[in-house]
Amino acid sequence: MFPTLNSLKISGADVLPLIEGGKGCCVTNGNTSGAWAEAGGIGTISGVNPDSYDSNGIIIPQTYSGKTRIERHQELINYAIEGGVQQAKIAHDMRKDNGRIHVNILWEMGGAETVLKGILEKSKGLVHGITCGAGMPYKLGDICASFGVYYYPIISSARAFKILYKRAYSRSAEWLGGVVYEDPWLAGGHNGLSNHEDPEVPQDPYPRCVELRKAMRAIGLDETPIVMAGGVWHLKDWIKWVDNKELGPIVFQFGTRPLLTKESPISQIWKDKLLTLDDKDILLHRFSPTNFYASSVKNTFIKDLIERKKRQLKTSLTIVGEMVVPIKIGKNKNKTFYFNKEDASKAAKWIKQGFTEILKTPDDTVIFVTEKNSLQIRKDQKECMGCLSQCKFSNWSDNEENKYSTGRKVDPRSFCIQKTLQNVAHGKDPDKELMFAGHNAWKFKNDPFYSNGFVPSVKELVNRIVTGD
Ligand SMILES: Cc1cc2nc3c(=O)[nH]c(=O)nc-3n(C[C@H](O)[C@H](O)[C@H](O)COP(=O)(O)O)c2cc1C
Ligand code: SF4
Repeated sequence: MFPTLNSLKISGADVLPLIEGGKGCCVTNGNTSGAWAEAGGIGTISGVNPDSYDSNGIIIPQTYSGKTRIERHQELINYAIEGGVQQAKIAHDMRKDNGRIHVNILWEMGGAETVLKGILEKSKGLVHGITCGAGMPYKLGDICASFGVYYYPIISSARAFKILYKRAYSRSAEWLGGVVYEDPWLAGGHNGLSNHEDPEVPQDPYPRCVELRKAMRAIGLDETPIVMAGGVWHLKDWIKWVDNKELGPIVFQFGTRPLLTKESPISQIWKDKLLTLDDKDILLHRFSPTNFYASSVKNTFIKDLIERKKRQLKTSLTIVGEMVVPIKIGKNKNKTFYFNKEDASKAAKWIKQGFTEILKTPDDTVIFVTEKNSLQIRKDQKECMGCLSQCKFSNWSDNEENKYSTGRKVDPRSFCIQKTLQNVAHGKDPDKELMFAGHNAWKFKNDPFYSNGFVPSVKELVNRIVTGD
């Protein structure tokens, strides 16, 4: 029998050691996190472009009127703060004094610091903790300490934590609520794989968390919980982790499994799709404009990116070395590019198939796309509203000193993550948008809990999880 889960002190209260991880854009909100807290655990509102509502409770579409990227970036920040505060109020009302409410932000989102401070200023007493990953959020501890809320850096190795602590968190150790270890091979969403880790060779999270605990003990953080995120489904598979002296206090974070609850705001088509996935349908890839690895469903959206990247060749505007074969490209065939013999035959084949336009990449290559696709890519780049601190797709950077540009060429092998995540969160066909999912998403299909299409409420899911199943 699965042992009773002991409660732990998290963000100032004794709660079940179960967290729903934040999911942007709008996939975790006031309703989901309020319900998770009401069930006794910790709910996490996504502070990454959360929805706000008009006086009738209708979602306000996030449209942009600013003429420049900088103006639109400011509009995006305003939306994020307003949305975050509204969601915090909803979660607070729903939790009925149970559990805890956290907010998740990504340090690499545009205006992260302004958004975080803006939400915390206007939601005093409603939010108990901040989880933050993607990048190295050195300022997180100082900001949270100044607002009297706990913080939870998301890291994927003990090394990252040691650097963060030494450089910054030692100043605000009393507000360090826990350290989230997010498994870079298994967790849904963006992943923190480092350059020396192989995406094809997953590592066991247990020794990695033991190493993290050793690093934490060395600085006196024996009792600060480690939050295990990524690949957690049935707790009975994690029995070794519970009440384990080597690991110390452990909390489990779920991201993929709670996508399928009554409160989850994702569309019915997305929910239905989850129940059909197989192991091979989830892919760890590197198309995200953040440059991080990401785990998502290998749907039409991802397959298109894979194919787009394959239609990539070295070329030159003049005859250079072996690039001697001229090909006229473009609608009016008014541009001549030179390819080597082998590549020229590939180019001719793609053009014949309808990929008549080429777009330059920052790696001195070009990719072949249809005219429609080319126009769409350029439009998306033009309409950028600066949602990231650095974007490889549009070359936006939220750094004034760098004139709001990364200084690199735009990369058409990537995509506008803001556009697609807003689309998928608001009912557009999930097959044609980015559908983040953890490696375990295939378990929906095999887990008897979901047989006959059963969709639990958050309370039912939490009650099920504590049984070990
Ligand atoms: C749809 C989706 C969106 C996510 N968005 C975010 C996010 O915005 N910020 C973040 O820190 N983690 C994000 N995550 C990661 C989750 O918070 C959680 O840590 C992770 O999913 C846990 O692994 P699991 O998917 O195996 O349960 C996302 C995960 C999913 C599935
Ligand atoms: S182009 Fe990049 S920075 Fe701009 S809105 Fe899209 S994802 Fe964000």
